[in-house]
Amino acid sequence: MLLDALVAVGLLVKDSISYSLSAFSKEYLVPTGVSFIGNRWISLANDILWDAFGHLAQAVKSGRPVTLFDANYWENHARISAASPSAFVEAAEVCSILGAERLDLTDGRVLDLGCGAGMRLCSVAQRFKPAMCIGVDLASVLGVAADVARRMHVEDTVKFVSGNAFDVSVDPGFDVAIISQILQLNDMARNLDFLKRVRAVLKNDAVLVIGELPVWEDRRGPEHVLLTSLGLLAMTEGGNAYTFSEISALTRAAGFGVLRKHGDRYSVGRAI
Ligand SMILES: C[S@@+](CC[C@H](N)C(=O)[O-])C[C@H]1O[C@@H](n2cnc3c(N)ncnc32)[C@H](O)[C@@H]1O
Repeated sequence: MLLDALVAVGLLVKDSISYSLSAFSKEYLVPTGVSFIGNRWISLANDILWDAFGHLAQAVKSGRPVTLFDANYWENHARISAASPSAFVEAAEVCSILGAERLDLTDGRVLDLGCGAGMRLCSVAQRFKPAMCIGVDLASVLGVAADVARRMHVEDTVKFVSGNAFDVSVDPGFDVAIISQILQLNDMARNLDFLKRVRAVLKNDAVLVIGELPVWEDRRGPEHVLLTSLGLLAMTEGGNAYTFSEISALTRAAGFGVLRKHGDRYSVGRAI
């Protein structure tokens, strides 16, 4: 009776002899699903998000954050991300972007600033076997990233450096820089300074991959990005969801070529 009811609401499908998960359930309701909704609830149960959304009215009225993301929050975020199938999908997307750029990374160096759990960097290391990959993030987060590198057997070439990703204090000469979900944490002035620093450590003609869900040009959607921007108002000093035009203008001003869109999330530009 229960199984038939679940078929009726679309959570299961039934053939002549058995029941199985519907496509919806496979995607959203089981931990191996790309969009497993449990991860959303686990991250929403975090104290900082709870506090921020509980005092959202205050943030909107004052235009100021009510709390700030901290190292514990980011460590938790990295743990969820390391266990999330969607992180592998996104990492594969970065690899396919770099593949399309036809880069020979055999002796190359790849930099991921604010690398989080490091899935993108480790996937690039696996696929392109560059000489060196460096991920920069907070010390607490890098414990998670180091586990990912071990699991993916790339610990010989992927190194993690703890520190302020926005200072970009690494030796220059990188062929690729990845910055994913980082620009949204800052206001435009800080982002411009950050991107100029990124440009300064890249070789000419290096590739910049930005992973950022842009808000539509008229700021009427997508809904989840607009909701994210409210969270950014409540939990960052000046962070926001930016339009593709805003991000393009920023990268041009920082010394990159024309930014091209890859799907919804990624854009790519060359250092010039
Ligand atoms: C939204 S997460 C993105 C993580 C990863 N790039 C991704 O796309 O999954 C932002 C990351 O920036 C890191 N971060 C924030 N502020 C930082 C800072 N000042 N220095 C270094 N890392 C920082 C956080 O620890 C976190 O891992």
